[in-house]
Amino acid sequence: MKIGVFDSGLGGLLLLRAMVKKLPAYDYVYLGDTKRVPYGNRSQDTIYEFLEEAVEYLFKQNCQLIIVACNTASAQALRKIQKNYLPKHYPDRRVLGVIIPTAEAAVASGAKNTGVLATAGTVNSGAFVRELKKLDKKIQVWQEAAPLLVPLVEQGELKWAEPIVKGYLKPLLKHKIDSLILGCTHYPRLKSMIRKLVGKGVKVISQDEVVPAKLADYLKRHPEIEKKLSKGRGRKLLVTDITPEAEKLARNWFRKGAVLRRVYI
Ligand code: DGL
Repeated sequence: MKIGVFDSGLGGLLLLRAMVKKLPAYDYVYLGDTKRVPYGNRSQDTIYEFLEEAVEYLFKQNCQLIIVACNTASAQALRKIQKNYLPKHYPDRRVLGVIIPTAEAAVASGAKNTGVLATAGTVNSGAFVRELKKLDKKIQVWQEAAPLLVPLVEQGELKWAEPIVKGYLKPLLKHKIDSLILGCTHYPRLKSMIRKLVGKGVKVISQDEVVPAKLADYLKRHPEIEKKLSKGRGRKLLVTDITPEAEKLARNWFRKGAVLRRVYI
């Protein structure tokens, strides 16, 4: 059985690439809901509906474990999938998100006064605040919704991003943050710019540097899941809509020869 990786679009390919690098032996199926991206400004009900469809589809593709790479979906809909949907429909399979491992990495790195940059949906859900405070009651958390960053990254318009990123960072830096969580699939593309802008005194937590190690650790702690995973080095990239731009992004963000296949979920 395979590892499924779900994202609202193609940003999750950055995480898939990092996961494949860390754990190359397994078979992976990526599903990007490119027809309905972005999720960041949608209602919780809609995000749940989309995530349930994606999870159902990936389970039918024989995934034992699904990583929800999308922060917005992890924040707004994952708990309901884990609590209601899984026990009823697929009690032996697992769906994991990216918010908890990221919060754990931030606290482990010594964060006491942290900023979170994410989509409006993730910020409004309060999921990062909740998870960080579960780990450290005293931690201070400041959030900033950054709705312009996903389109800029997707269009490859990074040269325009700097003044906008600066604008989003300003209110966070005013709070003298010691660390900054990049809480969106697309932000690893901006991490070197962000590291430069915030300076050495602020630790930048980027999910491509956190989630693969957390997954490796999870598989070690759950041999009952790990032993079901096949190791054929398969990588299937499925999307709900294909455009030439999407194909180009997949080649840039995953690997040169990446081929997308359109599916109907
Ligand atoms: N994948 C989303 C996330 O990580 C960003 C794109 C979107 O808004 O759907 O929050």
